[in-house]
Amino acid sequence: MQTAERSVVRVIQAQPTSDGAGVKLARSLGTPTLDYLDPFLMLDEFKSDTGTDYIAGFPDHPHRGFETVTYMLAGAMRHRDHKGNEGNLCPGSIQWMTAGRGIIHSEMPQQQDGLMWGFQLWVNLPAAQKMTAPRYQDIPPEAVPEVVLENGVHIRVLVGESHGVRGAVQGIATAPLYLDVRMPARASCALPVQRGHTAFCYVFEGAGTFGASTQNVTQQQLAVFSDGETVTVKTAETPVRFLLLAGKPLREPVARYGPFVMNTREEIVQAFEDFQRGTFLG
Ligand code: CO
Repeated sequence: MQTAERSVVRVIQAQPTSDGAGVKLARSLGTPTLDYLDPFLMLDEFKSDTGTDYIAGFPDHPHRGFETVTYMLAGAMRHRDHKGNEGNLCPGSIQWMTAGRGIIHSEMPQQQDGLMWGFQLWVNLPAAQKMTAPRYQDIPPEAVPEVVLENGVHIRVLVGESHGVRGAVQGIATAPLYLDVRMPARASCALPVQRGHTAFCYVFEGAGTFGASTQNVTQQQLAVFSDGETVTVKTAETPVRFLLLAGKPLREPVARYGPFVMNTREEIVQAFEDFQRGTFLG
């Protein structure tokens, strides 16, 4: 019998890495230590006020079979794809991109220096939707609702629902919850999470204690939760800010290679062939 309150079952320290044309990142999910939290494939935090850490950006690259989610806290990134879809990701905005059968895009910083800070999350698609048409949901900062609790806890509802408030991103197969939670010192809160869904948090400022286990989780750490209905969080003398993520597990085989995430090795080979032949986008 599981208790309603989830516990922390694992804590992972983000690893420094680089991707794109040399952008420095902290990767907490999608590493040999933690390669998959069904349905989540990857979580990167990029944060630097040194232009050379990010200026090269992410030039043209493909994706197939999953979704990429970009959430910006500071700085600006210009997004452009093979069809001419273009958008500016500004602070506080979220872009949910369903790559489906194929997208080729670039994500380039719009500044030479100053703070660039944000996250990229990869979310898997069920087999039946891997070859769906690409789709974008670009949510500007003013369209992200915020819940403010009496004790000073602020919850930006990026995706899903919290405290009766629903985020703007709609129609995602894995019914995700994606919250940006800011808590002052000496506060506590209980965040409802759908039972049966995979859930984890990523602390990006300060520290707090999480779950029935009151596990301390600090900056650049990811904590995986057991099953249950709520995630409880407490702070002591330090405020905390973290992402809380949850989603319905797909329980399907995963074959991944770089920017392609399919169910079988044959489908990965097919993705490469399609990309090389130029039939990728058909
Ligand atoms: Co991309």
